Amino acid sequence: MANNFKYYSPTEVIFGKDVEQETGKQLKRLGASHVLLVYGGNSARRLGLLDKVRYSLKEEGISISELEGIVPNPRLDKVYEGIRIGKADEIDFLLAIGGGSAIDTAKAIAYGLAEPEYDVWELFQHIRTAKKCLPVASVLTIAAAGSETSKGCVITNEKTGEKRAYDDNLARPKIAIMNPEYTKSLPDYQTESGCVDIMMHTMERYFTNGGNLEITDAIAEALLRTVMTNAIILHDNPGNYNARAEIMWAGSLAHNDLTGCGNDGGDFMTHKLEHEIGGMFDVTHGAGLSAIWPSWARHVYKDCLPRFVRFARNVMGITLEGSDTEIAEAGICAMEQFYRSIGMPANMRELGITPSNRQILDMAHRCMAACGNHTGSAKKLTVDDAVEIYMNAR
Ligand code: NZQ
Ligand code: ZN
Repeated sequence: MANNFKYYSPTEVIFGKDVEQETGKQLKRLGASHVLLVYGGNSARRLGLLDKVRYSLKEEGISISELEGIVPNPRLDKVYEGIRIGKADEIDFLLAIGGGSAIDTAKAIAYGLAEPEYDVWELFQHIRTAKKCLPVASVLTIAAAGSETSKGCVITNEKTGEKRAYDDNLARPKIAIMNPEYTKSLPDYQTESGCVDIMMHTMERYFTNGGNLEITDAIAEALLRTVMTNAIILHDNPGNYNARAEIMWAGSLAHNDLTGCGNDGGDFMTHKLEHEIGGMFDVTHGAGLSAIWPSWARHVYKDCLPRFVRFARNVMGITLEGSDTEIAEAGICAMEQFYRSIGMPANMRELGITPSNRQILDMAHRCMAACGNHTGSAKKLTVDDAVEIYMNAR
């Protein structure tokens, strides 16, 4: 049965070769006059992209301030620093150059600047909701998090080790400027982690017990097959532009909510379990997801058997004749093999971490506390379930 839904995806996408040269023109059209550029370590500068974007903005008479040094699993202290700069320089538009970490930092700064009387971290603690947010845009350099079109924003409080999400349509970016050429310089590990994250954004919405739409399932399955095919191409040939383009576009569609229309809101427990791993061990998000998914899947599939059987058949190409349980298990094994085939971990040992029993208990409690009422759809999880999933992923 299909659920009612609202589909709101207002981000304008400008996609293809050389599109970054339009950045200034596009932001001018959107009313930007003083932009805060937000970017990471070195890639934007090394790629020459930073200079191109600066030039393009200056040509349109747009003033620029800058916040650099955003790290993966982006930190709250950089958000506060950006808010301080934004207030002092009277910023009216945020432009991230990079991936989820730069974009999420820009979104959090945009919330903080729009309501300067509040501490922005309160949003991530779910103490209050945002009423306003400054406009955000991105020049994307990595296909992964989908933040360029999503309502999500994920920030780590480095003091408490909490990695927390705040979702609100107010922060949906106005525009995403996406040239797949720039993703060719990604280290293989980041490319492949990105592919896992893109797939997980689709799978989180797919494994549900609360209803679905056939058209949504068909889009989701095509997206998953496309990402798998092209992840394998890029594993052997990282310079393949078409494969880069397929994956970059898939990344935006996977997390702009298209692959969830009519479903029940999705499961999202693999993400919640991973956020605790990221908060405690600072791992790459996509790799953390592939390390936990097989254990989660084996823990829940009997409670969501028809979806796991459909997944095995339509996504993983399982042709085995057997019971539903056997087909579902074969689908999970095939996904595990796929992860390993592209160099992604299928458990925490392969991820390079060995959490102690104490740390697992801690992560399980924190995870379930952060979940509120939403503790899954394939199966509603308890703290004991979370402990077991972490233990079996070790
Ligand atoms: O800092 P630089 O030098 O840019 O290096 C980055 C970083 O080390 C590098 N990189 C990016 N583009 C590159 C490049 N290196 C070479 N060439 C390029 N073209 O890649 C590394 C990872 O960048 P990051 O922005 O962290 O990647 P990603 O897009 O995977 O973002 C991950 C963050 O997004 C969050 C994750 O939890 C994590 O914190 N998520 C955000 C979501 C959202 N807002 O909707 C949803 C996701 O589920 C996810 O939770
Ligand atoms: Zn993700």
